[in-house]
Order: sequence, then C-alpha cells, then structure tokens
Amino acid sequence: MRKITANAYMTLDGRGEFPKYPGSDRPSPEINALFRYMWYDRFDDVTTVVMGRRSFLGHQRVWSEKARKPGEEKWLLDYRRYLDRVEKICLSHRLKSTDWENARILHGDLARILAKLRREKGGNIMVEGGPAVVRECLRRNLADDYWFFVMPVVYGKGPRYWGSMDAQTTLKLIETKPGEDREILLHYEALR
Ligand SMILES: NC(=O)c1ccc[n+]([C@@H]2O[C@H](COP(=O)([O-])OP(=O)(O)OC[C@H]3O[C@@H](n4cnc5c(N)ncnc54)[C@H](OP(=O)(O)O)[C@@H]3O)[C@@H](O)[C@H]2O)c1
Repeated sequence: MRKITANAYMTLDGRGEFPKYPGSDRPSPEINALFRYMWYDRFDDVTTVVMGRRSFLGHQRVWSEKARKPGEEKWLLDYRRYLDRVEKICLSHRLKSTDWENARILHGDLARILAKLRREKGGNIMVEGGPAVVRECLRRNLADDYWFFVMPVVYGKGPRYWGSMDAQTTLKLIETKPGEDREILLHYEALR
C-alpha cells in the first residue's frame, strides 16, 4: 500500500516559518546530510507530493527548474528537477489550472483525497505542507508517519502546526537525527 508521510518544518514552538539562526544561511556547496535524507534518498520512493495552494504556488515560484539562479549548486538543481518531474497534487478550491508540469488540482475532504490517491498506482506519497494541510493530517490522524524538522528557534509568529485535535493521537518514535545547525529531525509513525 502507498504510504503517506507528512513533512513538517517547524520552529520549536510549532510555527511553519524559516527564521534565521546560527548557521542557517551559511552557503552550502555540498548537500547537507539531513536534506539528503529527507529528499534525495526519497526521490525514488516518493512519487506523489501533496501541497496546499499557497505552498504549491510558493514551491513552483521558488523551486521549479525555471526559477534556477545562475551559478547554483548541482544538488539544488537535482532537487528542482525532482520537483518538476514528480506528480504534484495541489489542493485548492480557487485554482482552476496550473502550468507546472505533472501537477493536478484536487479539492474536497482531505481524508477522501488521500484515500483516493492511495488507491491509485504509484510509490509513496508525501504531504509537503503548508502547515494548514499538515495540521489537518495531525488533527485527523491521516498520515502513516510524520517527519518533524525542528529548528532551534522559538519564533512566536507564523502559521501553527499544533491546534485542537479530534482525539488523542499516539505516535511511535522511529528515529531522531541531529542536523548540522542544531536542528533535530523527529520521525514518528502513527499508531492506529
Ligand atoms: N514550514 C513549512 O514547511 C512550510 C511549508 C510550506 C509553506 N510554509 C509557509 O506557510 C504559509 C502557507 O501555508 P498555509 O498553511 O497557510 O497554506 P497551504 O496549506 O499551503 O495552503 C492552504 C490552501 O490550500 C487549499 N486547501 C487546503 N486543503 C484543501 C482541501 N482539502 N481542498 C481544497 N483546497 C484545500 C486552500 O486553498 P483555496 O483557498 O484555493 O481553496 C487553502 O487556502 C506560507 O507562508 C509558507 O511560506 C511553510
């Protein structure tokens, strides 16, 4: 069965922002180990990436190959090419069409959409934000596993990952990995 992973990049207080902290804006000629683990190592197994409208449009604007900057590192180009070729699901009521290749727009109940995607052929599915969509996965326990990339900042503003829940969700810690700049990756599996 296709596995559904939700990725959440968050500050320590659960906000979906990317603030600066020591090391975070250091140029990276080489790919860092955690980014490799979260993305490169999953290029073959994750064949569908799901995003809310704002994230989808933001990723297209910033991360498609067309948005490449001169002199950029090869590892970033590989990531851009992956995002261009992977099947992308944009969740939106408002958006009626997209010019990003390999993308579809779906709307409706998130649980039904994810169940429909699971029934389709393909590899694993990644819910890659934004925080509103991941928050709904958490609230309704819709994903099979969660990767929380936690930055060492208490930020106090920005979209929230944590909110009220339909019921208690109990997670099993699978592994933790430290990042180069004191981030931590927490990988949890949902118990059902
Ligand atoms: N920390 C992170 O990992 C991360 C990742 C991505 C983005 N961000 C930041 O977070 C912000 C955007 O995130 P967000 O949480 O506000 O927005 P989002 O999740 O990217 O997009 C929300 C939109 O998705 C659509 N949507 C969601 N569920 C739907 C459903 N079941 N059916 C149809 N449409 C659905 C709706 O669009 P319609 O109005 O079109 O219906 C909704 O307004 C940005 O500031 C971005 O920089 C952070």
